[in-house]
Amino acid sequence: MNYLSGKHVLLGITGGIAAYKAAELVRLLRNADAGVRVIMTAGAREFITPLTLQALSGNPVHTDLLDSTAEAAMGHIELARWADVLLVAPATADSLARLVHGRADDLLTAVCLACEAPRAVAPAMNRAMWDNPATRDNISTLAARGLHVLGPATGEQACGETGPGRMLEPQALVDQLSGLFRTGRLAGRRVVVTAGPTREAIDPVRYISNRSSGRMGFAVARAAAEAGADVTLVSGPVALETPPGLQRVDVTSAADMHAAVMQRAPDSDIFIAVAAVADYRPQASATQKIRKSEATMELLLERNPDILADVAALSGAPFTVGFAAETEALPESAKNKRIAKGIDMIAANLVGEGLGFEVDENALHVIWDGGERELPCTGKTRLAVQLVELIADRYDSRQTQDKVTPINAKDTA
Ligand code: CTP
Repeated sequence: MNYLSGKHVLLGITGGIAAYKAAELVRLLRNADAGVRVIMTAGAREFITPLTLQALSGNPVHTDLLDSTAEAAMGHIELARWADVLLVAPATADSLARLVHGRADDLLTAVCLACEAPRAVAPAMNRAMWDNPATRDNISTLAARGLHVLGPATGEQACGETGPGRMLEPQALVDQLSGLFRTGRLAGRRVVVTAGPTREAIDPVRYISNRSSGRMGFAVARAAAEAGADVTLVSGPVALETPPGLQRVDVTSAADMHAAVMQRAPDSDIFIAVAAVADYRPQASATQKIRKSEATMELLLERNPDILADVAALSGAPFTVGFAAETEALPESAKNKRIAKGIDMIAANLVGEGLGFEVDENALHVIWDGGERELPCTGKTRLAVQLVELIADRYDSRQTQDKVTPINAKDTA
């Protein structure tokens, strides 16, 4: 499975002879349908021109930390946030040493320091430099900090020697990068996710709906599938492609969504309600188009079923996660909403004025019984991966609790 489709790959190129292979790497990443942005160090630009990488990536190449125009367009923090994964390839011995020391005196090192997405390095250097204890220590330090070390390969080197230190071939790097998203955290779990808006018919040509694009729900469903879950995505009307490796059920109204979910929820382990379900629907939907007549008209609305609350109320309910879209004061109302709906976890986000709906970035405040965590502003894909990790943690701990409960119950009996 290609996990890179739709992902943002930030590629840092440093000054080694293998830099010329970065052109092929970018081409393969684009073929895998990843969005690619490139950062080049001054050394890298001695080996290959930014123009080549710009043409292949389809984006301007980033080179300078202190270029005020570049910073205004997309500065080091924006680049770090944009990334779903950061790869330094080739990573020279010097660049590894600089990463170990947390240097931030050029764009690439500053971005590496600011980036909270998974980071990987593809070392490329002479075999003696690779074998040197200084480099070995640097690699161990970076690996211990959670950086993924891809390669190096062994073979003939540009300097004429043979041994370990060749950069992995571009295709191998793409495969390994894709594999970083396959966490297996939800392997074997059945997950149902709702996404998008619902449409509540007024008559055959009109409806009530909202501005949800479905992007967050689709990102969550995709992250769950990548974590190994068997995912059913119940989606309202959206203009989004189905992410790979999951089953999609299209619905229109809240009542349709309710029926589709209630059919599947009893057999699921986790239910994540991301959809912006209309709270009300017209009490009667006209069978013919309503003609204009009076200066004003009244539309009588009635409550829709609350899908999330109904799933949470099932006996043997799955682990339930809700979303709360708030236009003000987040945590308190979200905490109350979690308790009122009887759900395990709630992810609250601010909406309105460029936040939440129809934008690529978001931030979440996630609350569960006895804990909470802020997931800072980042791309929705990355945010969804972080949320799914958190859900997997809480789900696991609930499973553990459930196992110990009968023993406690017996003890107190
Ligand atoms: N939800 C649902 N079915 C509904 C309404 C909401 O499953 N009929 C789910 C949403 O998918 C979301 C959560 O419940 O996970 C949102 O709860 P809701 O009380 O609708 O939140 P807000 O719309 O933010 O709250 P309010 O209407 O009180 O402002």
